[in-house]
Amino acid sequence: MFTKFYLTTAIDYVNSRPHLGTAYEKITADVIARYKRLAGIKTRFLMGNDEHSQNVYRRARELGLEPLAYCDRMEQEFRSVWQALGISFDDFIRTTEPRHRTGVSWMIDRIAAAGDLYEGFYEGWYCVSCEAFKQEKDLVDGNCPIHPTIRPEWIRERNHFFRLSKYRDALLDHFERHPEFLEPEIRRNEIRRLLESGLEDISISRAGQAWGIPLPIDPSSVVYVWFDALINYASAVGLGDPGDSRFREWWPADLHVIGKDITRFHTVVWPAMLMSAGLELPRQVFGHGWVHLGGQKMSKSLGTSLDPLEAAGRFGADPLRLYLVKEIPYGQDGDFTWERYEERYNVDLANNLGNLVSRIAAMVDKYRRGRQPPPASSPDSLAAKAGEAVQDYRRAMDEYMLHEAAAAAFRLVDAANEFIAENEPWALARDPANAGRLDTVLFGVVELVRIAAILLLPIMPAAAGEILARVGETRPASDLRLDADAVWRADGERVVRKGPALWPRAE
Ligand code: MSP
Repeated sequence: MFTKFYLTTAIDYVNSRPHLGTAYEKITADVIARYKRLAGIKTRFLMGNDEHSQNVYRRARELGLEPLAYCDRMEQEFRSVWQALGISFDDFIRTTEPRHRTGVSWMIDRIAAAGDLYEGFYEGWYCVSCEAFKQEKDLVDGNCPIHPTIRPEWIRERNHFFRLSKYRDALLDHFERHPEFLEPEIRRNEIRRLLESGLEDISISRAGQAWGIPLPIDPSSVVYVWFDALINYASAVGLGDPGDSRFREWWPADLHVIGKDITRFHTVVWPAMLMSAGLELPRQVFGHGWVHLGGQKMSKSLGTSLDPLEAAGRFGADPLRLYLVKEIPYGQDGDFTWERYEERYNVDLANNLGNLVSRIAAMVDKYRRGRQPPPASSPDSLAAKAGEAVQDYRRAMDEYMLHEAAAAAFRLVDAANEFIAENEPWALARDPANAGRLDTVLFGVVELVRIAAILLLPIMPAAAGEILARVGETRPASDLRLDADAVWRADGERVVRKGPALWPRAE
């Protein structure tokens, strides 16, 4: 078990604002980061913006802005969206920052020193939206399969090349020895097939462009935007800066969370760059699926994208986070529709968890004036259920089966509701002879809700924190730990507080 956890997401192109698909990635990575912290692991969570893309340059020009001034503005937009969604990143890197330039120069020097750069001539198709060279065989009706509305450009230029082909065997070997390097398995199989079919060297510079990091060995070119962008994960922790000890502390990254469309860059190009530079490889890459909108691909260029703030505006950020995490098996594609979102909100939150929190507060208020003493004995069945759910949750989270972890937490909510239905506290309350039994029942459901809320902290941080406060937790959520706190505890009285309905039913 590693004692630190360095987690990153893809850094976003800033030619448009975040949409629900890019937000999905940040939300799921945030759930992982919060889970690791809850598990007591020293965690560093990095996000950022990928600024040196030609689309960014063009967008800035369209608006009559200097590219850097445009990127400054977009940084604020991105940060405010991430803040509204409760994303708890520890660091945010921009590829125009000096610290990043330092890392890029260092890396290119090392790769050049290894003899892995050479000059050549490139001729071929280029999709500006992917920022990637495309082979004729990859095009569909002459268009990029990922960006069908954007015609690829034919490029002929003198470039610098990276000897990617040299690393094919070493990469295959790495996949062999570390199958966990790329999850889920379906992505791993794609990449292995790709490696088996052979690798070509890649161009790592673009000639005659103004927007980008000048190539140290040929300042008339800029570094190819992907070569530049991938290095962010290392430059953010001080790569190439001898005065910065963070690189030794945090590298290698423990997990890169990225979308399935960019796994080749992260599990072929990036590890080969690191091998060439003599650096350790990241321990794992997780290629999540795509979120569609009503069955359609979400895309700004196709006019089918949803602003995550609009989605969060409907019921709040936490219900949106829960929907995305619980309803989409992590690693697979998923879909967002307003109907389905509303339906799940009503079922999981309004009728189930929200209603449960209101009911227990009302009952403890009515029968015990809001102060629930511990019972003489706890029902073993409930304590066992809680223990099982916590175990299932941990296993699921450790394997990044986030949807299963969410389901495990909700099994406790269901157990609490069933226990209330079976034991009918209102009937027990009618006869003072049942006072002991009533304490057992009420305390039991309060305890189940407390444990469920701890498990939900990474997924719904604000709401779970509020629930914990209502069932008598006085410590801040950041002080709670799975090992010590997500365990059945029949100690001391619980001060249970009523409050406004957490999630009123949506009609
Ligand atoms: N800038 C590159 C990444 C460089 S990482 C060194 C890039 N940017 S992006 O803005 O196009 O995408 C950012 C992330 O969002 C990528 O991981 C991408 O896969 C993900 N997604 C973009 N659209 C998405 C959905 N519709 N659904 C889920 N994830 C999506 O690629």
